[in-house]
Formats: sequence, C-alpha cells, structure tokens
Amino acid sequence: MKHLLSIADLTRDDIEEMLVLAESFREVTQRDIPKVPALRGKVVVSLFYEDSTRTRISFETAAKRLSCDVMGFSVSSSSVKKGESLRDTVQTIEAMGIDAVVMRHSAAGAPNRVADWIDAHIVNAGDGCHEHPTQALLDLLTLRRHLGAGLDGARIAIVGDILHSRVARSDALAFAALGADVTLVAPPTLLPSTLAGWPVSVSHDLDAVLADLDVIYLLRIQRERQNEALLPSLREYTARYGLTVERAGRLRKDALVMHPGPMNRGVEIAAEVAEGPASVITEQVANGVAVRMAVLYKLLGSGASGVVGPGAVVGASGAHVEGATLG
Ligand code: NCD
Repeated sequence: MKHLLSIADLTRDDIEEMLVLAESFREVTQRDIPKVPALRGKVVVSLFYEDSTRTRISFETAAKRLSCDVMGFSVSSSSVKKGESLRDTVQTIEAMGIDAVVMRHSAAGAPNRVADWIDAHIVNAGDGCHEHPTQALLDLLTLRRHLGAGLDGARIAIVGDILHSRVARSDALAFAALGADVTLVAPPTLLPSTLAGWPVSVSHDLDAVLADLDVIYLLRIQRERQNEALLPSLREYTARYGLTVERAGRLRKDALVMHPGPMNRGVEIAAEVAEGPASVITEQVANGVAVRMAVLYKLLGSGASGVVGPGAVVGASGAHVEGATLG
C-alpha cells in the first residue's frame, strides 16, 4: 500500500489486517515507555490546511511513538499566506527529503492530487466533505473491542449532518465492509442529494430506529460548512435528532454511543450522555493513536512489503524498546 486516501480503496481483508496491526500497536501505547524504533529516520510532515485538535495531535503522537521525525507545518504562518499553491508547497516540502505527508484540506480529492505530484506516501487526514479514512479505522478498532472482530449484522445508525461529513462516508463504507447494517438518520436537508455508492439505508426518524440499535454514532452539525439555512433552528434539530438523556434511556442496555469529536454538547448529544456509561468517545480518541501508528507503519515500515507480520514487528521492536529508545 503506497497511500491511504480513502476507505473506498480498501478491501475487507485490507481493513482487517490494519486492525490486527493496530491491536498490536495498542499494546505498545500501554507500555511504560510507549515507543518503538520501528520507523527511526523516517520523516513525516503534517500539513493541515483546516483546523484540527485530535487528528493532528494523534498523528504526531503516533509518528513519534514509532520514532519518526515529525515536521509540523502551520498554514497560517507559512508562504501559503503569500499565495503559494498547494503544488508548490508540497514540492518544496518534498525537496527537503520527507517520507510521508499527513494532510487535511478543505477540498475533496486534494490528497489524491498531491499523490500525483510527489513521491512521498500520502495519508488523508480529512479532505473536505469527502473522506476521513483513519477516523473510520479507529472507529472500527473501538467497535471491534466491544463487539468482536466481525460486525456482521450489527445495527449502526449514523445520525446528523451527513451532507457535510467526511466521517459519515468513511464510516459507512468501513462499517458496511465489515458486515454491519448501516442506517443514515438525518433531516432531508442534511443528506446528500444522491446516495449512490453508499451501502446504507436511510431514515428521517430517529425515534423509529433507536430501540433496535447496537451502535448510535452522532455527528457534529458543521456550521462552518453550511452557507445556507439547512435547519429551522438548533433547538428544533435537538428535539428531533439529538441524543438527549430521554432518548438515551430508550437505547438497548448494551448499545454503544460514539462521536468523532469535536462535540456540540447539548445539540447532537447531551453532555450527560457523552459522559455516560454507554459512551466510548474517549476510547475512540485513544484508539486513534494505535490506528495511526498502524497506518504509518504499514506505509513506511517493513510491513509495507508484507513480509513481516504484526506480531513480529511489535515483538521485535519491543525487544529494543528499553535500550534503544529511552534517550
Ligand atoms: C471530524 C473531522 O474533522 O472531520 N473530526 C475529527 O477528525 N475527529 C468531524 C468534525 O469536524 O465534526
């Protein structure tokens, strides 16, 4: 695998292999010294043209735990401000000698263009309203830890601003690839005009599907991407689609509540529910680091050749860990 641009490019086997690798890196992240020398000497640049808290820090943490050198790139203080194009920017960065670019951009398909322009490995950390593949993988890792390896027959609703959500597309593809039965729940104004290629069913009525769900996945209302009034009011949205305390009480006892963050507490999810026993939201964040370690390792490490299995990788790295990476 050269790049990770979209879940649509991955087979079920690719996804499962990545999750098994992520499980072994999860064990690394729980050690006293959560660091292995697996990618020593590799240079990873994080190139974020859109705001991010968890995704950027998660990738940078993952890269550092693999002993990569990590170069941050702040668009707001770079020559992008002087009008430098994306192509010139990435070619300039590549000329300095880098191995991978982790990029977020407001334009759908921007990482695919960059992959055509430079030789480095490209990881899509979110492109416009299109895809966010590592979010889907970390969500799968979280689900797999609760529901077991396959999601066959699991009923998952993705609720909210589907129209603007790259998480929705990547998650729907990933959950369905592992056998889940995915329902998008949203008002008609927050759904794409066509759902061709989406392996999902659709409902406009959260209350009708709630009681049957194994997993409810809430999305943020992305006000920064909405340039017209798509909702009468946020209060009305919450009344019909919010996971309020009352609605959470109608979920099955073992149902899981997920959200990619950042949350609008009190809008798509009540604060009490986000912090309640069914919520796995902080586990999602924690699993993000292990998944991104797996992705970087798969693209940049000896795992890229497919020769070394995950057990051997982490085992071998682990053998070095005390001596080799303390300093
Ligand atoms: C999401 C994103 O940026 O696509 N956040 C994330 O990466 N965890 C979702 C969002 O912004 O609502």
